[in-house]
Amino acid sequence: MRKKLLLGNWKMNKTLPEAIEFAKGTKEISDLAKKNKVDMGVACPYIDLYAVKKIVKKHLIVASQNVSKDDHGAFTGEVSIPMLKSINIDWSIIGHSERRAYDAETSEKCNAKILALLNNNMTPVYCCGESLETFEAGKTKEFIKEQIITGLNGVKAEDMPRVVIAYEPIWSIGTGKNASKEIAEDICSYIRKLVHDLYGSKVSNHVRILYGGSVKPNNIKEYLSEKDIDGALVGGASLSLTDFKGLLTSIL
Ligand code: PGA
Repeated sequence: MRKKLLLGNWKMNKTLPEAIEFAKGTKEISDLAKKNKVDMGVACPYIDLYAVKKIVKKHLIVASQNVSKDDHGAFTGEVSIPMLKSINIDWSIIGHSERRAYDAETSEKCNAKILALLNNNMTPVYCCGESLETFEAGKTKEFIKEQIITGLNGVKAEDMPRVVIAYEPIWSIGTGKNASKEIAEDICSYIRKLVHDLYGSKVSNHVRILYGGSVKPNNIKEYLSEKDIDGALVGGASLSLTDFKGLLTSIL
């Protein structure tokens, strides 16, 4: 019903030559993904986007890892939506927990970026997730509720099919400490319920919700077997072609 989506997040990894080498090696993987009706892609550093997109064309999704809410102006170090569109990039991660932690990205700021992307017919991959402290205090759901409600504020129902949500508990990112599939499913189904409360069942049945946090070829299948988990956002295991392919073959 909902098409599976596997999105790599390279974070601050891969020089341009390394990114080009990776992109050139993806043809067989993207053919296999297409044949099996799985959407697959990578979120690259800005510097790699143009070259990677040119090589993979439409075969893989190519996403940025952030974007400015503003179209142009005196914002040193930022990259705008028109700049991404000029190189045919139409997906962006928004609100990754590393940006929330190190760059003071709030759900309000994420909301402005999500609205700007949707106004430009682009796809936001909106990340949410709680800290270990919040998890241990048993406050995950109230924390996630605030992130979802604030992040989606003002998003029209007709734009929701383009929105992807990624649940990534911060305590499981890059730590090798996975959330169990039961925890991941509990929160992903809770997010679907929040979307249902905001938009009704047509939208909530359609929206894709990913799990992220130490997903590897050897554990991806257990997550994707859960009914509300439609794919994965993968950091470390998206960096080598072997692992990237392994993520796909493990779920086929
Ligand atoms: P990880 O990162 O797979 O290395 O844990 C996931 C992410 O932060 O998107």
